[in-house]
Amino acid sequence: MDETKSGTKNGTADGTAGGTADGTADGTADGTRTALVTGANKGIGYAIAAGLGALGHRVGVGARDADRRAAAVARLRAAGVDAFGVPLDVTDQESVTAAAELLGRVAGRLDVLVNNAGVPGEMGPGWFQDPTGLDLDVLRAVLETNVLGVIRVTNAVLPLLRRSGSPRVVNLSSGVASLTRQAAPGSGIGPVMAAYAPSKTFLNAVTVQYARQLAGSGVLVNAACPGLVATDFTGFHGSRTPEQGAAAAVRLATLPDGGPSGGFFEDAGPIPW
Ligand SMILES: NC(=O)c1ccc[n+]([C@@H]2O[C@H](COP(=O)([O-])OP(=O)(O)OC[C@H]3O[C@@H](n4cnc5c(N)ncnc54)[C@H](OP(=O)(O)O)[C@@H]3O)[C@@H](O)[C@H]2O)c1
Repeated sequence: MDETKSGTKNGTADGTAGGTADGTADGTADGTRTALVTGANKGIGYAIAAGLGALGHRVGVGARDADRRAAAVARLRAAGVDAFGVPLDVTDQESVTAAAELLGRVAGRLDVLVNNAGVPGEMGPGWFQDPTGLDLDVLRAVLETNVLGVIRVTNAVLPLLRRSGSPRVVNLSSGVASLTRQAAPGSGIGPVMAAYAPSKTFLNAVTVQYARQLAGSGVLVNAACPGLVATDFTGFHGSRTPEQGAAAAVRLATLPDGGPSGGFFEDAGPIPW
C-alpha cells in the first residue's frame, strides 16, 4: 500500500504523481476540504484526524515514522476516512518542505492545519521539571517541536491555506500555558513544568501574532486545550479520552467564516491567558 496516495472515493487520487487529487486546478471539484494533522499517528492527533474525517474532510496524516504512519492511515481508511500519509518531522525543515510539496500535489490547497505534534520533554520523578536545575538542552528540544515546529509547518503550508475559501489553523496548546491559572494559588494546575508549560505559553503568544498578521485574510488561527487526556504523553493518566481531547480542536478547525481568531479555547469556552 502506498499510504501517501489519497484514498478518495473516486479512486483517482495520486499523491505522488504530480497531479491534483481529482485532476482539477485546485482539487476541489467536489468541495471536499483537506486537512493536515501533525503527529496524527496516535493519541489526540489521531482522534482529530478521525473526527475531521468523520465530518467529510480528506485528511493528511502527518507522522515521522513510516510504519506508525501507515498503520494510522490504514486504521482511518478502515473507519471510512479518506486518509493519506504525509511523511513529516516538524523539527526538520527538509521534511516540512517536502510535506508541503506533497500536499500541493495531492490537494492543490489546504483548508485546515492542525498543529498537534508536541513533546513534554524529559521529566523528573512525579512528572516535574524543576526550573532551578533545568537542562537547557531539554528546553531547546521542547521549544524546537512545540514552538519552532509549529511556525515551520505553518509557514510552509501557508501558500496552500491561502488558496482555501475558509482556511483554519488550530494549535494544540494546554491549560498549563495559562499564566493566569499558573499564578492563581490553589488552581490545581498540576506540577511545575519549566520547559513544557512555557513552551505552550510561547505557542499561545505565537498564535496571537499569526491571528493579528492574518486578520482580514480569512485565515482563522486559534489555540485549543484538550484537557488532561490519557495518552502516551501523560503515561495514560488523565480522565479524558483522545476523542474528548480532540473535540475542541475539531470545533476550531470547522469554525464558520467570521468566527473567532487569536483565541485560546477549551470545551467550556475561552481560557484566560
Ligand atoms: N495528553 C494530554 O493530556 C494533553 C494535554 C494538553 C495538551 N496536549 C497536547 O496535545 C498534543 C498531542 O498530545 P498527545 O497526548 O496526543 O501526545 P502523544 O500521544 O504523545 O502524541 C504526540 C504525537 O506527536 C508526534 N510528534 C512528536 N514529535 C514530533 C515531530 N518532531 N514530528 C512529527 N510528529 C511528532 C508523535 O509522533 P511519534 O509517535 O513519532 O512520537 C505523536 O504522533 C501535544 O501537542 C500535547 O502537548 C496533550
